Amino acid sequence: MKNILITGGAGFIGSHVVRLFVNKYPEYRTVNLDKLTYAGNLENLKDVEGAPNYTFVKADICDFETVLNIFRTYGIDGVLHLAAESHVDRSIKDPFTFARTNVMGTLSLLQAAKECWKGNYSEKLFYHISTDEVYGALQFDETLFTEETKYSPHSPYSASKAGSDHFVRAFHDTYGLPVIITNCSNNYGPYQFPEKLIPLFINNIRSNKPLPVYGKGENVRDWLYVVDHARAIDIIFHRGKIGETYNIGGFNEWKNIDLIKVIIKTVDKLLSRAEGESEKLITYVTDRAGHDLRYAIDSSKLKNELGWQPSLQFEEGIEKTVKWYLENQQWLDSVTSGAYQEYYEEYYGLKDKK
Ligand code: NAD
Ligand code: TYD
Repeated sequence: MKNILITGGAGFIGSHVVRLFVNKYPEYRTVNLDKLTYAGNLENLKDVEGAPNYTFVKADICDFETVLNIFRTYGIDGVLHLAAESHVDRSIKDPFTFARTNVMGTLSLLQAAKECWKGNYSEKLFYHISTDEVYGALQFDETLFTEETKYSPHSPYSASKAGSDHFVRAFHDTYGLPVIITNCSNNYGPYQFPEKLIPLFINNIRSNKPLPVYGKGENVRDWLYVVDHARAIDIIFHRGKIGETYNIGGFNEWKNIDLIKVIIKTVDKLLSRAEGESEKLITYVTDRAGHDLRYAIDSSKLKNELGWQPSLQFEEGIEKTVKWYLENQQWLDSVTSGAYQEYYEEYYGLKDKK
């Protein structure tokens, strides 16, 4: 496999995957297709932007003709599909955008792969990156999500991801398209847009702003360091079995309020504040509509079959993450202000294409 298309490569997880592929596989051409929505920042990929095996293309995955053209121009053999609208709160306010990008965008990529590969599937792979949120919510006493757990999405975000997963599977079952799907738990780490819990709270603690805890803070999430997710994606892309689903997770469940206290402790320590000083910023707010109580993933299939497991202990990952955000205030400022957009439009000659 030579020409790899990574969609959503300018986003949080996508940028870690692009970096890994560009650095580890000089023999591949890695094409990053991204629309550069508010969540896509080429600032995340500054360190690889000049690499000879890297190409960036600004495009919308929903634009079928453009996507097909990209497949043909670059002779795409392998797809790692990460482009998506990814924030649950935004999906509650604007479900249409989620259905458009996550469902129709995925369909457009599948159709382009099918038309371009024309049934010659040797050395081809369409790898779809999805979420554990498609499985719905667990009660506290229920066992973890496995690959056999029935889909039961509750939010417009998870419904749209479930829809995309079903289309991917349908293209495998109907046309024989070689696909793999993975469903991963909550990621954290550098380059995550500061609307998600961990970067938002780090930033707010630093600026002494209120920390909006939804409901009673008792919801549970299973956290995985983003670089470990990227490692899993690499292993599955190269050694996963066609037609399979793999769950990816950290066996690392945290009640939101307990996690928030760890973040507070870590930020206070690194800013030389008194221990727990920023707990006063905790502000309980109205719960998120349809807030899923608990997500927790059983990733033992991936461990048993492909030997992957998380490499980083949670305490270490959180400390690394907090340090990164505190040291990269300029990144935070520029991604939230949109200032980076203009620079990159100039850099990639995108200005006239608007
Ligand atoms: P993100 O929101 O940080 O990045 C999404 C990227 O997709 C951005 O670069 C954006 O510009 C791009 N994009 C959005 N709409 C597009 C379109 N129409 N055409 C082309 N590009 C478009 O998301 P993320 O957190 O990096 O998540 C990446 C993938 O992983 C998503 O599919 C998400 O569902 C999945 N996932 C995320 C998590 C998590 O905790 N963040 C966990 C499991 C799975
Ligand atoms: P989030 O990072 O949005 O991820 P997801 O909803 O996909 O799991 O939220 C993680 C958890 O934190 C979730 O239970 C909602 C909660 N949360 C808050 O309590 N306050 C906030 O401001 C945010 C963004 C999330």
